Amino acid sequence: MSESSIRSDFLVIKALEDGVNVIGLTRGTDTKFHHTEKLDKNEIMIAQFTEHTSAVKIRGKAVIQTSNGEMSNE
Ligand code: TRP
Repeated sequence: MSESSIRSDFLVIKALEDGVNVIGLTRGTDTKFHHTEKLDKNEIMIAQFTEHTSAVKIRGKAVIQTSNGEMSNE
Protein backbone atom coordinates (compact mmCIF):
# COMPACT_ATOMS: atom_id res chain seq x y z
CA MET A 1 0.00 0.00 0.00
CA SER A 2 1.37 3.41 -0.92
CA GLU A 3 1.79 6.00 1.79
CA SER A 4 -0.75 8.32 0.16
CA SER A 5 -3.51 5.76 0.69
CA ILE A 6 -3.04 5.78 4.47
CA ARG A 7 -5.39 8.45 5.69
CA SER A 8 -4.40 9.34 9.20
CA ASP A 9 -2.47 8.82 12.35
CA PHE A 10 -2.79 5.70 14.37
CA LEU A 11 -5.77 4.72 16.47
CA VAL A 12 -4.83 2.98 19.72
CA ILE A 13 -7.49 0.79 21.29
CA LYS A 14 -6.99 -0.86 24.68
CA ALA A 15 -9.60 -3.37 25.78
CA LEU A 16 -10.87 -2.99 29.35
CA GLU A 17 -12.77 -6.29 29.28
CA ASP A 18 -12.70 -9.58 27.39
CA GLY A 19 -14.45 -9.72 24.04
CA VAL A 20 -14.12 -6.14 22.82
CA ASN A 21 -14.80 -6.01 19.09
CA VAL A 22 -12.98 -3.62 16.77
CA ILE A 23 -14.93 -3.55 13.54
CA GLY A 24 -13.57 -2.01 10.34
CA LEU A 25 -16.07 -0.47 7.92
CA THR A 26 -15.38 -0.12 4.22
CA ARG A 27 -14.63 3.07 2.38
CA GLY A 28 -16.78 3.95 -0.65
CA THR A 29 -20.45 3.91 -1.57
CA ASP A 30 -21.19 0.77 0.44
CA THR A 31 -20.44 0.96 4.13
CA LYS A 32 -20.02 -2.61 5.31
CA PHE A 33 -18.19 -4.50 8.01
CA HIS A 34 -15.03 -6.00 6.49
CA HIS A 35 -13.06 -7.08 9.52
CA THR A 36 -13.78 -7.85 13.16
CA GLU A 37 -10.92 -8.15 15.58
CA LYS A 38 -11.68 -9.49 19.04
CA LEU A 39 -9.57 -8.19 21.89
CA ASP A 40 -9.36 -9.64 25.38
CA LYS A 41 -8.81 -7.54 28.49
CA ASN A 42 -5.62 -5.45 28.35
CA GLU A 43 -4.96 -6.32 24.72
CA ILE A 44 -4.07 -3.34 22.55
CA MET A 45 -4.72 -2.84 18.86
CA ILE A 46 -2.98 -0.15 16.86
CA ALA A 47 -4.67 0.63 13.54
CA GLN A 48 -5.01 3.26 10.85
CA PHE A 49 -7.67 4.44 8.47
CA THR A 50 -6.71 3.20 5.01
CA GLU A 51 -7.98 3.07 1.45
CA HIS A 52 -10.13 0.12 2.59
CA THR A 53 -11.21 1.36 6.02
CA SER A 54 -13.08 4.64 6.53
CA ALA A 55 -14.65 4.05 9.92
CA VAL A 56 -14.15 1.88 12.96
CA LYS A 57 -16.81 0.72 15.36
CA ILE A 58 -15.82 -0.40 18.84
CA ARG A 59 -18.13 -2.61 20.84
CA GLY A 60 -17.30 -3.22 24.49
CA LYS A 61 -15.37 -1.34 27.14
CA ALA A 62 -12.19 0.18 25.84
CA VAL A 63 -9.92 3.21 25.97
CA ILE A 64 -9.39 4.76 22.55
CA GLN A 65 -6.65 7.24 21.70
CA THR A 66 -6.68 9.22 18.49
CA SER A 67 -5.26 12.54 17.37
CA ASN A 68 -8.62 13.95 18.55
CA GLY A 69 -7.92 12.89 22.09
CA GLU A 70 -8.54 9.98 24.41
CA MET A 71 -11.94 8.60 25.18
CA SER A 72 -13.46 5.66 26.97
CA ASN A 73 -16.84 4.08 26.49
CA GLU A 74 -16.72 2.46 29.90
N1 TRP B 1 -7.05 -4.70 5.72
C1 TRP B 1 -7.54 -3.59 6.49
C2 TRP B 1 -7.16 -2.27 5.78
O1 TRP B 1 -6.05 -2.19 5.24
C3 TRP B 1 -6.93 -3.67 7.89
C4 TRP B 1 -7.36 -2.55 8.78
C5 TRP B 1 -6.79 -1.32 8.80
C6 TRP B 1 -8.38 -2.57 9.79
N2 TRP B 1 -7.39 -0.54 9.75
C7 TRP B 1 -8.36 -1.25 10.37
C8 TRP B 1 -9.30 -3.52 10.29
C9 TRP B 1 -9.25 -0.92 11.40
C10 TRP B 1 -10.16 -3.16 11.30
C11 TRP B 1 -10.14 -1.89 11.87
O2 TRP B 1 -7.94 -1.35 5.77
